Amino acid sequence: MMRVLFASSEVFPLIKTGGLADVAGALPAALAEAGIDVRVLLPGYPEAMQAAGAKREVGSLGDPLAIGVDARIVSGKLPGSGVPVWLLDCPALFDRAGGPYQDAKGRDWPDNALRFGLLSWAAATLCTDGSPAKWRPQILHCNDWQTGLAPAYLHAWEVLSRPGTVFTIHNIAYQGQFPPETVARLGLPPEMYAMDGLEYYDSLSFLKGGLFYSDRLTTVSPRYAKEIQTPAFGCGIEGLLAQRSADLVGILNGADYGVWNPTSDPHLAHPYKPGDAAGKARNKVAVQAELGLAPSADAPLLVIVSRLNDHKGMDLVLSALPTILRLGAQVAVVGAGDSSLEDGFRAVAATHPTQVAVRIGYSEQLAHQLMAAGDMLLMPSRFEPCGLTQFYALRYGTVPIAHATGGLADTLVDTGYDTLMTGTANGFVFEHCNAGAFQWAVERAVALFAKKDQWRKIVTSCIGQDFGWSRSAARYIDLYKSLVANGKGRGKE
Ligand code: ADP
Ligand code: GLC
Repeated sequence: MMRVLFASSEVFPLIKTGGLADVAGALPAALAEAGIDVRVLLPGYPEAMQAAGAKREVGSLGDPLAIGVDARIVSGKLPGSGVPVWLLDCPALFDRAGGPYQDAKGRDWPDNALRFGLLSWAAATLCTDGSPAKWRPQILHCNDWQTGLAPAYLHAWEVLSRPGTVFTIHNIAYQGQFPPETVARLGLPPEMYAMDGLEYYDSLSFLKGGLFYSDRLTTVSPRYAKEIQTPAFGCGIEGLLAQRSADLVGILNGADYGVWNPTSDPHLAHPYKPGDAAGKARNKVAVQAELGLAPSADAPLLVIVSRLNDHKGMDLVLSALPTILRLGAQVAVVGAGDSSLEDGFRAVAATHPTQVAVRIGYSEQLAHQLMAAGDMLLMPSRFEPCGLTQFYALRYGTVPIAHATGGLADTLVDTGYDTLMTGTANGFVFEHCNAGAFQWAVERAVALFAKKDQWRKIVTSCIGQDFGWSRSAARYIDLYKSLVANGKGRGKE
């Protein structure tokens, strides 16, 4: 059995701020299902420790970064799948009121370099003879900047029988940049702070550590793999990525249909089979009542489940809202993010309470309910490495309206004469990311919503698609195998 350590700063259902958690919860489960001996490593946030039932100590890591207290690894299990998880227990760093990356006011924790430096250090150590555990991975799979220094530590330590390393970019816009003196603070050798190394525009970049020192790079859709090699999407790292393009592959994310299944969704007032229009309509009635929207089956309900920021194109939604409302559509939003956008949405809801409902915050329950009640999902993202909500929307018979970028371009087929005829249309997709193009896509969708036969055709093709994780998991396994076959990953059992 191949042994894989999967390191991530968030893992559903233990702790989640976005899609990374969904992937880190579902992909390891799919890998385990396919016969991989996988363990997940994440920080020991108190709620995660509790949800994972983490009590058994695997061993102590000491105090490698001179924080003043020892850290240890505690083991538990992912609820649902039972995948083993290892939590990095260090209350001084992870037991605090607020989010995993920021305090309650939305400010980054000032010691994030230490917090995720230690996570990276732990991931690397668990692959070496310094590990307190007997189990040693053949592959270390890191995700996003928070684990980016793990391959850098393995390089610095010149570990002889080191694992094969895979680094997945979920979002290149978050890079984990810190002042140069952080290099020494984290115990990394000064010579690694160089252009061919950890340095990025005069700062230490955790992300660049992952990209420079890992054996293989992946990102979460084929289109995004190409996009990030261009200046428009590469956030200044496009050069390095183009250099490493032979080692970079885009593997589309999947959807966890155990969690996102309208037939058995515990959050819904009226669970329904995909394609059961009457069942779906009951959820629309319930949500309209719950949110104070006018009770109307004919008014198309446009839903948003998203972080509220410019990356997600939420400013475009605000610009297009007056037109959308003139079309007679309703809009329901659950999201949190930039305060100006939150305020903007609140203001429209206040002036149009029966047509626009906005719930600022994070609610798993409302996310599921809106997915079930909506006729369309709005995703005008400026860029979208993969996006998961479109997968969920498709399964719930909610038609995505989205910008043709990243994973959205790879998963959605615009509705036109041909694609409607061939039954492949599963969304409304626009090429140029501006309010006008978005508005036009919404207008097309609303017009077709009134033509019930044609709408049913689109919904039928939405629900017929299978984006389950097994196909993507098989691609990761091929990647792991290719590394081991190349002599990487001679870790001990
Ligand atoms: P990203 O990771 O960039 O935010 P994704 O589409 O990959 O985008 O994943 C977002 C995940 O977070 C989905 O599972 C979505 O349902 C969830 N989500 C986003 N905002 C909220 C919210 N306000 N309340 C509940 N779930 C949310
Ligand atoms: C990031 C991306 C999103 C992707 C998710 C999981 O948060 O923004 O597009 O779906 O990671 O890979």
